[in-house]
Amino acid sequence: MALLTFVYVAAVEYMEQQARETIDADAQGLLEAHALGGLPGLVELVELRSAHDPDRASFYLLVDEAGRYLAGTIAAWPSEPPQLGDLYRLQLVDRRRQDRGVRPVLARAVELPSGARLLVGRDIQDKLRTQQLLRSAIAGGTGLMLLLGLLGGFALSRWTIGRLEQVNRTTAAIMAGHLERRIALLGGGDEFDELAQNLNAMLERIEQLLASMREVTDNVAHDLRTPLNRIRSRIEVALLEELSPAEAREVLEATMRDADALISTFNALLSIARAEAGSERREHVPVDLVELARDVVELYEPLAEERSIALALDAAGLVEVDGNPQLLAQALANLVDNAIKYTPEGGAVSVRVIDAPEPALVVADNGPGIPPELREKALERFVRLQPDRSTPGNGLGLSLVAAVAKLHGARLELSDNRPGLVVTLRFAPRETRPRPAALQAQPATV
Ligand SMILES: Nc1ncnc2c1ncn2[C@@H]1O[C@H](COP(=O)(O)OP(=O)(O)O)[C@@H](O)[C@H]1O
Ligand SMILES: [Mg+2]
Repeated sequence: MALLTFVYVAAVEYMEQQARETIDADAQGLLEAHALGGLPGLVELVELRSAHDPDRASFYLLVDEAGRYLAGTIAAWPSEPPQLGDLYRLQLVDRRRQDRGVRPVLARAVELPSGARLLVGRDIQDKLRTQQLLRSAIAGGTGLMLLLGLLGGFALSRWTIGRLEQVNRTTAAIMAGHLERRIALLGGGDEFDELAQNLNAMLERIEQLLASMREVTDNVAHDLRTPLNRIRSRIEVALLEELSPAEAREVLEATMRDADALISTFNALLSIARAEAGSERREHVPVDLVELARDVVELYEPLAEERSIALALDAAGLVEVDGNPQLLAQALANLVDNAIKYTPEGGAVSVRVIDAPEPALVVADNGPGIPPELREKALERFVRLQPDRSTPGNGLGLSLVAAVAKLHGARLELSDNRPGLVVTLRFAPRETRPRPAALQAQPATV
């Protein structure tokens, strides 16, 4: 509308300007004739111009000082604005026309020194008609634009709402329990499809998590039931018999062992949950892997000695990563525990800390190892590969290691030691921060 209005105003102004220039030029010519030939000369030129005006667009009137007609195309001096000088919009009747119709005219009146007055004008009927045409074109265009805009907006919002409806219907169905439902894609690759794709991926992930949670719950229930049943039947048998204090003590000790196993399973589950929640990421602190490995190896030395296993540590200097020290220590302890537990007596276990570019913890043994196809599975919760289950454990050790690795953005690699197992926990390179020691080493020349 603003554009059309601008075009209209500019067109009207241009037309008026044109008419004004024509009139001024015309009047100028006539006044020059008056200056040269006096009133008779002017009369002659006015009559000449009146006669030679094929499209009858020019209007002239010359009257004497008493207002009597001398020459021109108009019968009488207009009664309307009788002022002289400026341009006027008048309604005039052309003497030459049969119909004697009133024409819109733009005119200028000039008073001559003799007292005679001259009126020079241009018919602006055509221009007014063009302006009228422009006005109706603008009105029509605006109307059409509004109509199309409304229709387009309506159609677009209907379409948008329709697609949102679809998402709403699907989410309502999912909330009602149909977890397997997915939002249909139109395949256009637009933002709605992208949204649907993301929502579907999210649903997929939620479903997976729910499934794994269900599995974990089942496993927890199953794994806790066994020791609890054992405790219960042991107590039941003990209650039925007259026990000597030594026998009673044995029952209590066995019960305590089972309770300890239950507690350690719960602790492991809590640690895994804590690591998987990942909320502690921002609480990460610099952890020296060398010191960590030293502590863990020290902790497991008695156990290794008991099983005649050579436990070696290969770590030097300072290898720092950002992490949770307790969880990292727990993960390394689980790996060392496994290595010592599953390596036959007389075997060797080594713990290695690798520095740059990627800091890593490596635990290797020369036991039976894990066949490649089972390595992924060994990381799952409650999975134990030895069918006899004679060695103590709950199948949560490697799950915790995997969860801790994920929390620290580290890669967990299980590989072959020929024979034996190598577990590598590879951390991302730490962004280089100036260490205080390095700062001190610089020459103090400031
Ligand atoms: N160093 C190893 N050598 C051989 N097998 C291993 C080793 N570490 C782990 N495994 C296998 O992976 C399984 C899962 O380990 P883990 O999650 O620590 O459970 P757990 O030690 O309680 O059995 C173990 O039961 C064992 O069969
Ligand atoms: Mg273990």
